[in-house]
Amino acid sequence: MSTTRISLPSKGQPWAELQQRMSDMGKNDVDWRHGKASVYVFHSGDDVMQVAHDAYGMYIAENGLGPGAFPSLKQMESEVVNMALSLQSAPNGAAGSMTSGGSESILLAIKACRDARSATAPVPGTPEIVAPYTVHPAFDKGAHLMGLKVIRVPCSDNFCADVGAMAEAITENTVMLVGSAPCFPYGLIDPIDALSQLALDRNVWLHVDACVGGYLNPFMRTVVEQQGGEPVEAYDFSLPGVSSMSLDLHKYGYAAKGASTVLYRDKSLRDAQIFNVDVWPCGQMFTPTLAGTRPGGAIAAAWAVLNYLGEEGYVARAALIKDAREQLVKGCQDLGLEVFGDPKLSIVGFGSKNHDILAVGEGLYEDGWFSSRLKNPDGIQVMISPEHHKTMPNYLKAIEKNLDDVRAGRRQRVSGKVSYS
Ligand SMILES: Cc1ncc(COP(=O)(O)O)c(C=O)c1O
Repeated sequence: MSTTRISLPSKGQPWAELQQRMSDMGKNDVDWRHGKASVYVFHSGDDVMQVAHDAYGMYIAENGLGPGAFPSLKQMESEVVNMALSLQSAPNGAAGSMTSGGSESILLAIKACRDARSATAPVPGTPEIVAPYTVHPAFDKGAHLMGLKVIRVPCSDNFCADVGAMAEAITENTVMLVGSAPCFPYGLIDPIDALSQLALDRNVWLHVDACVGGYLNPFMRTVVEQQGGEPVEAYDFSLPGVSSMSLDLHKYGYAAKGASTVLYRDKSLRDAQIFNVDVWPCGQMFTPTLAGTRPGGAIAAAWAVLNYLGEEGYVARAALIKDAREQLVKGCQDLGLEVFGDPKLSIVGFGSKNHDILAVGEGLYEDGWFSSRLKNPDGIQVMISPEHHKTMPNYLKAIEKNLDDVRAGRRQRVSGKVSYS
């Protein structure tokens, strides 16, 4: 079979033409600007996007690998990490880093945990991570790369971590427990309080994956205090058994892509994350994260958006998310759909005991709505951005239309595939 290989054009082409071609290429992309994407994009307003864009552009060439050359980026990263530590009630002596995303933050926490443990109390066999079924596959990726094993434990009936079952899964090889705040599939916070106690009792590291919730939960808590509603339970360093946390700036921090934070209760734990060698002609190579070169733009955009929005801006956006979530939960219930668990943040998963929800999901996709789909049980997952409070009524109409089609036999499941990849 022959493939067409594209070669580098022999001559450069005018930017105006390239711009047009690029915009043409995007014509079949999901229309996130009009609320059609409930995954991948976190739209919190054109003004925020502009700040991130301009700040990224200002530091597009600078490189976070060289703090000596770019004290500006060093200062911005330090300020971002400090804001994150404050938001997560971190004690004095806590430390962290900016990374390229949630997966890198998780990989680094696994590395730090593995190395800290092997330096103090090595386990006899393959080190194990005990986690609820719902944790993000980045833990499996990290375990695969670094020679650990993930033990996924089925959740309780409320779709949250079953702490009793996780306790039973701990062995002499367990080095890490994981809880999510919230988990991606259902948007539910695991019982981190009980996991923290378990981690202390069994002397293991607890990582809280707050990639989704780290820059949302504190502000949702404020909105609930102002408006009433279900409180956001404790999930951060205020719980003494939490050793590390991952929280993504490029999700509900509304920063440009390529930005997350990984935090540790104590700098000594964070030191185990660092890779530092002196093995080649250029001397010492000190890299705190997985990357060598680190895009200055991503650091600058995160710093700028955090300062542009401030607490007030994040609280206002959390209020919009709460409004959209309440519209969605009520709309699903009115349509006879089952909401999974009791979501209090920005993600809602729902299914149906009577109708094929994956067929409904396929219909939504054909109509241009890009929602994630779930299995065990079958469902649809929506990750709400602030801008969705405007488009939620239309999304609910689209669910109703597709559900009617499934009920009436006008639509059947085609592939039943859950993942888009
Ligand atoms: C709970 C959770 N953890 C980790 C990640 C991985 O983040 P990233 O895609 O930035 O690597 C995600 C991504 O959606 C997530 O939802």
